[in-house]
Amino acid sequence: MNIVKVKNYDEMSALAAKIISAQIISNPKSLLGLATGSSPLGVYENLVNEDEKGLLDFSKVSTVNLDEYFGLSGEHPQSYRYFMDKNLFDKVNINKENTHVPNGMAQNIDKECEDYEALINDIGRVDLQLLGIGHNGHIGFNEPCDRFPRFVHNVELSESTIKANARLFDNEDEVPKRAITMGIGTILKAKKILLIAGADKGDIIERAMYGKVTTDVPASILQFHHDVTIIRV
Ligand code: GLP
Repeated sequence: MNIVKVKNYDEMSALAAKIISAQIISNPKSLLGLATGSSPLGVYENLVNEDEKGLLDFSKVSTVNLDEYFGLSGEHPQSYRYFMDKNLFDKVNINKENTHVPNGMAQNIDKECEDYEALINDIGRVDLQLLGIGHNGHIGFNEPCDRFPRFVHNVELSESTIKANARLFDNEDEVPKRAITMGIGTILKAKKILLIAGADKGDIIERAMYGKVTTDVPASILQFHHDVTIIRV
């Protein structure tokens, strides 16, 4: 595991964007696994800047996002599809048909989970998976529980995640209670993993990276992946 300590959010964002840029340059047909939340916003800004300068070409890139709230359509401003369109996809020369986010409005949530897992496998192995981390150690929406889920699945969000994400909604009651997320197994299949963690995530990063590997801290499983880079403030 390669852990890089940086001074602040801007350095974290610039460095992570460099790694993603290098991935796209070395393989223009890369399959990127992408994340949402406050942590990757700066990364996406940097990538958009590179694209605007003509230094990056997203035309052959494909993407799969980690997760989506259940019950929110892609037009809802707090949906992860909306977030990705607004902060990255609408600003770079990516083919939208090659961008994938679970369908939060699916009639049958279990079928959507199976279909999303199958879709990822059909496109191929994720070349580089970008991750943030929740204060409770969740990755994607894999909350602390009694196992490491293998596949895309639907989850009930924990009280602490609902509280943490309420800042983006008008009030806590509006935060969806369920989500669709890649499983831990889905995430671990990526060839490379890049996890970014801001200054507020110091404690959980210590537990996840140097503590015991446990389902109580889902990100701790990353200690077993052969190619993980962590950029932390
Ligand atoms: C959400 C997302 C995660 C993200 C985490 C941390 O719950 N599902 O993918 O990593 O929150 O978000 P932030 O970067 O805003 O702290």
